[in-house]
Amino acid sequence: MSSGSAMSAEDFDEWYSNMRGSVAHDDIHQRRLGLPPRLLSTSLLTWDGIAEVVEALRLAPGHRLLDLACGRGGTGLEIASRTGARLTGVDFAQSAIDQARTLAGQFSSVDAEFRLGDLAATALPPGSVDAVVCVDAIQFQATAESFGEMRRVLRPGGRVALTTWEAVDRADERVPARIRAVDTEAGLAAAGFADVVVRERPQWRAAERAMWEEAAALDPGVDPALRSLHEEGLHVLSVFDLMRRVLATATATG
Ligand SMILES: C[S@@+](CC[C@H](N)C(=O)[O-])C[C@H]1O[C@@H](n2cnc3c(N)ncnc32)[C@H](O)[C@@H]1O
Repeated sequence: MSSGSAMSAEDFDEWYSNMRGSVAHDDIHQRRLGLPPRLLSTSLLTWDGIAEVVEALRLAPGHRLLDLACGRGGTGLEIASRTGARLTGVDFAQSAIDQARTLAGQFSSVDAEFRLGDLAATALPPGSVDAVVCVDAIQFQATAESFGEMRRVLRPGGRVALTTWEAVDRADERVPARIRAVDTEAGLAAAGFADVVVRERPQWRAAERAMWEEAAALDPGVDPALRSLHEEGLHVLSVFDLMRRVLATATATG
């Protein structure tokens, strides 16, 4: 899901439905990224990467965290359980929201809600959250509207942390168009954020590459989730070094 052609909510819904119950898919993903069994995600954020995101968000107990494009919810639930934040997860795929609501039962200490919504239209009130995290999803809609929605829902002083990929060279047409469209620094600055910092995270990429290599080498059989992982692995590895991994952080101004 980090590259390839345009994906609709229906495409993601089918992708998540296929994943439900694919133990083999989750095993590869969690083993390679160092995630515990309860942490169901579809991002490429490693266990060590989660710690960096937690630090960047500066959450305190009782704060409201928005996990934008939350998928199956594991990343946001893990961050909320570490910080004592209350969690709102938003995604446009119904199957992801259903799985996130089920997963929340395994994070009993977390006050969590999950709802359908778009990256650019969450339906949350203005200034209603203390932090926004968006893990490996902005590349699906890296528009002024998406960055603007993050700014709109954050209270002044609130923090945003995004993980994604950017093209090493945006003019390189071998890089998928959606990745070439990502410019987190410009997007966050144009939305009115201050303290915009975009850091490359090459150290996250070893686990990511190993996961795709395992996926590309396996015989996926008839499991649709494994087939999808296998095909994505073949594609991602062909453009892997043309992309850089980034963690972008910023502060909402008053
Ligand atoms: C690679 S997954 C990452 C999910 C999650 N952040 C995680 O850490 O597991 C990308 C997610 O973006 C969501 N997504 C893509 N475009 C979206 C949009 N326009 N509005 C809301 N969610 C979107 C997909 O449904 C999917 O759950």
